[in-house]
Amino acid sequence: MKKEENNLSDSCKVAILGATGAVGTELLELLQTRNFPVTELKLLASERSAGSTLKFKGQNLQVEAVTDDSFQEVDLVLASAGASTSKVWAKKAVEAGAIVIDNSSAFRMDPEVPLVVPEVNPKAAALHKGIIANPNCTTILMSVAVWPLHQIQPVQRLVVATYQSASGAGARAMAEMKTQAKEILDGEAPTTDIFPYPLAFNLFPHNSQLNEQGYCQEEMKMVNETRKIFGYNELRITATCIRVPVLRAHSEAINLEFAQPFSVVKAREILSQAPGVKLVENWQENYFPMPMEASGKDDVLVGRIRQDISHPGGLELWLSGDQIRKGAALNAVQIAELLVAKNWLRTPVGTF
Ligand code: A2P
Repeated sequence: MKKEENNLSDSCKVAILGATGAVGTELLELLQTRNFPVTELKLLASERSAGSTLKFKGQNLQVEAVTDDSFQEVDLVLASAGASTSKVWAKKAVEAGAIVIDNSSAFRMDPEVPLVVPEVNPKAAALHKGIIANPNCTTILMSVAVWPLHQIQPVQRLVVATYQSASGAGARAMAEMKTQAKEILDGEAPTTDIFPYPLAFNLFPHNSQLNEQGYCQEEMKMVNETRKIFGYNELRITATCIRVPVLRAHSEAINLEFAQPFSVVKAREILSQAPGVKLVENWQENYFPMPMEASGKDDVLVGRIRQDISHPGGLELWLSGDQIRKGAALNAVQIAELLVAKNWLRTPVGTF
């Protein structure tokens, strides 16, 4: 049945679409640990995992294959099953009266769909028409670290190189990299299925589709999504995205250019107080953010802040952040919490 308006402030019927995936299982855990007001939970995935069970608050819940009826009586859908799946189901869920927080790239650049990082542009969430997009993982991590500096002095140009873990390609990609590592250590040829090339003991530029300028989709996501989240279309920004043999948590080397020199001391002070950021720097020990330490953590670890010796207005940063958590599931749950806290839950039915 269609509902004229959602009201999730007290309790909420939630569905996770893609519940069996790397991000889906994290969503499940975060709904428990953050005590999100769930009254009913539906676990949705493909036919492949229908009938399997996952635990939620001590109960075994059965995973269902998503169908046309899946979203009846559902208030909130947390979707993380890939762009093609979201394109099929998100609008159907909105038509059934639910709000969808979509982790895929399907709607991120749609001008009707807010693209939200709660630490950066929380108010954008209020403008939703049923779907809110969760940004690309590397973009979320970078936005959380760069936005507080951008508030002090506008960033004129941003150059980023990413070091992206296997987790960005999902649970099966993580398993593939483990298998490859074992195969290589056993002297066997590594098998590839999800990734085009062996990732264990190797790295390669992100294998998403290349455009005419030689940029891959992942790089263009960072460019376009950062501009949209910051509300700053003129931002000069370029990215190089690399997949590295890390199981979980992405890292990024970020070069920022400002009109005037940005004091390193000031940058440290700002970032040590910035929401969602943890400053990690011990210059004596050469100790800075590492993906292994960022794994499983909510905060984006930022450090190695230094003046760019090649440009008077340049500032260098290094970060590591959990791609599955803040880069995906945590950001989505934080958006859901924001909707509940601010009562931004109206779903104009039939807007899509
Ligand atoms: P399934 O386990 O049935 O394949 P990951 O990003 O870790 O690879 O996870 C992807 C998630 O999206 C999984 O839960 C997967 O379910 C789900 N999924 C993939 N394709 C579909 C589909 N066509 N319909 C519904 N769920 C899908």
